[in-house]
Amino acid sequence: MTGGGLRVSSSTGSYPVRIGSGVLRDIGSSVAGCGVRSVAIITDTTVKGLYADEAVASLREAGVSVVVLEVPPGETAKSWSRAGELLQEMSGLALNRDDAVIALGGGVIGDLAGFCAAVYMRGIGVFQVPTTLLAQVDSSIGGKTGLDLPRGKNLVGSFWPPLGVLTDTGCLATLGPGEWRSGMAEVAKSAILDGVPSLEGLERDAAALGERAAGAVERAVVMAAGFKARVVSHDEREAGMREALNYGHTLGHAIERVAGYGAVAHGIAVAEGMRFAARLAERIGVGDPAWSVRQDHLLDSLGLTRTGCPYDAAALLSAMRSDKKVRAGEIRFVLSTGPGLWEARPIGDAELTATLSEWSA
Ligand SMILES: NC(=O)c1ccc[n+]([C@@H]2O[C@H](COP(=O)([O-])OP(=O)(O)OC[C@H]3O[C@@H](n4cnc5c(N)ncnc54)[C@H](O)[C@@H]3O)[C@@H](O)[C@H]2O)c1
Repeated sequence: MTGGGLRVSSSTGSYPVRIGSGVLRDIGSSVAGCGVRSVAIITDTTVKGLYADEAVASLREAGVSVVVLEVPPGETAKSWSRAGELLQEMSGLALNRDDAVIALGGGVIGDLAGFCAAVYMRGIGVFQVPTTLLAQVDSSIGGKTGLDLPRGKNLVGSFWPPLGVLTDTGCLATLGPGEWRSGMAEVAKSAILDGVPSLEGLERDAAALGERAAGAVERAVVMAAGFKARVVSHDEREAGMREALNYGHTLGHAIERVAGYGAVAHGIAVAEGMRFAARLAERIGVGDPAWSVRQDHLLDSLGLTRTGCPYDAAALLSAMRSDKKVRAGEIRFVLSTGPGLWEARPIGDAELTATLSEWSA
């Protein structure tokens, strides 16, 4: 399989990420090119209706035998019981170690199908075929798989790098506005953390992205996926640089939790978290007000407008503390202080409460 220039290094080798409009049409040759002769596509009902036929036709044409396994759309599919059902179905199909899973869908399908591939027969190959913007620029790259437990999200999982990531930007045309914004927050985060050329490119393309113009969409996906690929290639297990990817997510996750999952779109919550982190950086003396304003403009221009943060500071603090990324009881924040400039540091409760109260007012 050719990688279109992007490659991700992982502990088990490296894999290509192919990005473009129409990639789905060639999925068969990409999979057959890896020596795989039989696959199970795992997808959700919505994505199946939109894209499974094209994928199946391409695979069959390339001589790959294929079955489609379907789950309902939504986060609830990332469950232990759903994974168990899929594993039973995979064994019923007599999939063996040389066969592979194709994760066709958003981040939920990527995590669920990736997890099933990681544990079936102690691990079979998986191709990530992301169809949401968030999955294309973030979750399909890096090899993290996961399931949710009643106590929290992603509490079960493993690192299972894919054989390849096949990203068809044409699939984004059918994405709903909420899903678009979720992915756009990750695109903005990547540009902010990546530095001046990525940031200026995104600022220039903001209006075209509002119209989902094909060229601008492809540039944004290539930029953000490329950034993620570089970060995880250097730090697969989140021992250092990968922590930067949490930018905006510490408060973002807390907002989603306190507001009740689904009440605030993930992208809006993450954007709020980035705005807040810039103010926090200012408050502790490492930030620059002009940078906070530039970031606000970028987020506004991408449709990630402020809805406010009308939540109790104590509730947000407690939600942040229960995040599984909290280390030794300390709440760590990724702070951005300019294009491509970031640092992660623990922030004390007093500082956080004061900045949160000011921000929420
Ligand atoms: N593994 C990682 O590194 C990582 C990183 C970030 C997030 N995640 C996980 O990703 C998940 C969120 O992913 P998501 O935002 O993609 O949500 P999702 O997978 O639930 O997809 C959102 C919705 O969009 C629909 N959809 C997908 N593609 C479509 C298309 N092209 N056109 C129309 N509708 C389409 C789906 O059916 C679904 O209803 C969470 O579970 C999160 O934990 C994982």
